[in-house]
Amino acid sequence: MSDLFADAVETLAKAKKTVALTGAGISVESGIPPFRGKGGLWEKLDPMKYAHIDAFLEDPETVWNVLIKEMKMVLDKARPNTAHVGLADLERMGILQTVITQNVDGLHQRAGNSDVIEFHGSFAWQRCQTCDWTIETSRVDLSEIPPRCRCGGILRPDCIFFGEMIPHDALLRSQQISAACDVMLVVGTSATVQPAASMPFIARDNGAVVIEINPEPTSLTRRISNLPLLGAAGTILPRLVKAMRRHQNA
Ligand code: OAD
Repeated sequence: MSDLFADAVETLAKAKKTVALTGAGISVESGIPPFRGKGGLWEKLDPMKYAHIDAFLEDPETVWNVLIKEMKMVLDKARPNTAHVGLADLERMGILQTVITQNVDGLHQRAGNSDVIEFHGSFAWQRCQTCDWTIETSRVDLSEIPPRCRCGGILRPDCIFFGEMIPHDALLRSQQISAACDVMLVVGTSATVQPAASMPFIARDNGAVVIEINPEPTSLTRRISNLPLLGAAGTILPRLVKAMRRHQNA
């Protein structure tokens, strides 16, 4: 066991409040590509052309055809992987209380985490751009693109596009929880998109230990991660759960 890994186990064992901040990397092993880096979605598509609210308002048909339909196909097939299950296990063991996720795939809830803040919203629902009526994505009639609400307005995923505000409650609660935790587990995020990327800084500024799980170093690794664990989340998190079980039973 590496020193960093052993320190992470000891730190988690002592913590009273642990929160996880997750990003696209935790769902890579579920078959969902990340946004940045090799094979990332923004390598194929320009986010300003297809994922900005102005682009959607100007040409919803193209954004639906190029981005949203593709996302639906990928997310429909995805199942929680061993990393999601690892975080759900940590909650069941009384170690993890809350997950703040930038992901819109719903996989943390499906794995069994009960307190999940969906910082960028959820793809499970579509919302009318005109009247705010919502409908489950699985029930939307896709024979007409863009799909329409019964009021005639255009439906859009209930997640945020670039250029939109983070839902107020999600932002406020994330900031409060980050400021009050003893440990923040940062899993599978490049930590480049604000304000999500500021949560580890809030945690660290308030005395928390930051444990980072990522196969690549990120902008956080040298600056604020106390315990960087280099590797895939689907490998590291189950190892961490196993070690925590041993620790609890010792
Ligand atoms: P990114 O695509 O920016 O970063 C993914 C991170 O996951 C990278 O640091 C990878 O090294 C890491 N990674 C890859 N495979 C991994 C694995 N198996 N286990 C652990 N980590 C792995 O994704 P986010 O940081 O989530 O916003 O991006 C933040 C936001 O940017 C997204 O929520 C999205 C995007 O634009 C919106 O759509 C509003």
